[in-house]
Amino acid sequence: MSEASGRLRARRRAAVLISGRGSNLRALIERCAAPAASAEIGLVISNQPQAPGLQHPRAAGIPCAVVDHRLGSRAKFEQSLSSVLQAHEIDLVCLAGFMRVLSADFVLRWRDRLLNIHPSLLPAFPGLDTHRRALAAGVRWHGCTVHFVRAEVDAGPIIVQGIVPVRPDDTEEHLAARVLAAEHRCYPLALDLVATGRARVEDERVVIDGAAPADQVLINPLANDS
Ligand code: GRF
Repeated sequence: MSEASGRLRARRRAAVLISGRGSNLRALIERCAAPAASAEIGLVISNQPQAPGLQHPRAAGIPCAVVDHRLGSRAKFEQSLSSVLQAHEIDLVCLAGFMRVLSADFVLRWRDRLLNIHPSLLPAFPGLDTHRRALAAGVRWHGCTVHFVRAEVDAGPIIVQGIVPVRPDDTEEHLAARVLAAEHRCYPLALDLVATGRARVEDERVVIDGAAPADQVLINPLANDS
């Protein structure tokens, strides 16, 4: 091995678990296709045989598996997930619109190697219908969170958040589209931070080495006091 190749870090092998559309999966595949990417998508698993998102790994030549949750107990389902992950030598798992709750045992086995994206600024609005609830609450800012998964649903150490303004005339659809665009930037960044080892959990908070923190104060609505 040459000195140069000896210095190259092996890419982490990530699996992405989906249930539907797969736009975050597509963003992760695109980022990981870059020559300097710190992770490769080595596997995509869907629990829904007809998930439209399966088209993205198929087009990119990435192995896909369907593990249908309806074909047995949750324990059986998770055993199947674990054996496929193991067979593909996966070391990081990204949940991306994966609509099954994983057991505490499974989550523990993948502790700090299991990521999720949620369409709100956690800990606000865990659960479903986040955009409708954000509009109903009248928040001025909304967004998305990439976090390490814990047994409690939509909770766990936060890696990256993206925020978007809520506009006075917003509809759920417009707000969802704005948040989704932020998701597509946040998830690849979070995976990179974890895959390079720059994001690590200390006392249940994520510490990030060498990343510049955002330094702006954002105010919505814009002040009219100048
Ligand atoms: C995203 O909004 C994600 O935050 C949530 O489910 C949605 C999945 O969208 N967990 P997609 O399948 O990645 O397009």
